[in-house]
Amino acid sequence: MKADIGISEKNTKAVADKLQVILADEYVLYTKTRNYHWNVEAPNFMELHKLFESQYEEIDEMIDDIAERIRSIGHYSTGRLQDFLSLTNLLEPNSNNKAEKQIKNLLQDHETLIKELRKCEGDFSDKFKDAGSADFVTALMEKHEKMAWMLRSYLS
Ligand SMILES: [Fe+2]
Repeated sequence: MKADIGISEKNTKAVADKLQVILADEYVLYTKTRNYHWNVEAPNFMELHKLFESQYEEIDEMIDDIAERIRSIGHYSTGRLQDFLSLTNLLEPNSNNKAEKQIKNLLQDHETLIKELRKCEGDFSDKFKDAGSADFVTALMEKHEKMAWMLRSYLS
């Protein structure tokens, strides 16, 4: 049944399409963070192992919320790995076990997502008149800003 929520079909579709890209990016960042949780090597191994775990758990919740937001505005969510890989803006570099390289790589992805989400917030509220989705992506952005700060604090 169609969602009758006071936003045009054209606008909810535009918002959903953009949310699919964010979902794909989150999926890639989740997988990368989990890979680093497994494979990091550093004198402070246990701290980074736990930090990465806390971050991929947070991203996991965000992934679920984004797919459910897409459903809430009346569209179906992508859920196939091959679709995520074709939609994402993030890159998967060769695996690396060095903590500093991993942290820099994750930080870059969080900052990419923060900039994407900031642009979404403006587009969703101004162009597509979807205040709920604008508010939703603002909350996601704040979570990435906090995770980025934590990663950045390991780098001089
Ligand atoms: Fe684990």
